[in-house]
Amino acid sequence: MYKIPAKTLFTGNQLVFVPECHSTNNELQHLIESNRASDGIVVITDHQTRGRGQQSTVWESEAGANLTLSIGFKPHFLNLKEHFLLSHAVSLGISDMLESYLQAAEIKIKWPNDSIVNGKKICGILIENLVGGDQLQFSVIGIGLNVNQKVFKHAPEATSMALVKGVEFNLEETLHTLLSCIEKRYLQLRSGQTSALKRNYLDALYWRGEEHWFRSEETRFQGVINGIDSAGRLAIQTAGKLQYFDRKQVQYIA
Ligand code: BTN
Repeated sequence: MYKIPAKTLFTGNQLVFVPECHSTNNELQHLIESNRASDGIVVITDHQTRGRGQQSTVWESEAGANLTLSIGFKPHFLNLKEHFLLSHAVSLGISDMLESYLQAAEIKIKWPNDSIVNGKKICGILIENLVGGDQLQFSVIGIGLNVNQKVFKHAPEATSMALVKGVEFNLEETLHTLLSCIEKRYLQLRSGQTSALKRNYLDALYWRGEEHWFRSEETRFQGVINGIDSAGRLAIQTAGKLQYFDRKQVQYIA
């Protein structure tokens, strides 16, 4: 069970706890489809048995150890072209929360929205949009944040807050801090402060300004991440030219 957070305006005011489920994104989608969800609704579970990750991957999380939740926002103020800014805002909110707990660590955002601490993934986001008629009805923001898990058998490149800090954390307290940090960034977006969000996102961007290896289709190439374009695509400076990539078009190698 989790209490309703005291420090948010509306995020988590409707808090639905399910001890076990396949996926909190699916649970939230059912609530939205049956008109039982309000803006800022949070669905959280202790045990997610068929968690879904980006690009049809599986998201595994030890029962009772981590935060696995979905937030439903109604970002009607965003047009579809700007939707990537919601992903910016949520990942910045997660970075703010991690900074408050893990001060000394290097906290970065791997485009588009993975949270990376000391070079390892600590949190993933899966955003799914529900469209009703020709309008975006709800954005379902699924978040898997590794809090107290210490062994990652199937994901050696993963870490957790407990591994970074050497202590365990209270899940309810971390949830409340997380929701408050995400809501602050969401309100920043809602009030039109997109330049600040874009600047903060660029400052936090993993591998930005460094020479690295990438793969696109079957080709490996070296380049330097230069930024994000107005459509949210990743810009990489290669030997010959500046190239722009959508989500599925590029992989980070080394
Ligand atoms: C990723 O691949 O990085 C995204 C992982 C997202 C996992 C979260 S856990 C809560 C929510 N429910 C799901 O089924 N997935 C998201």
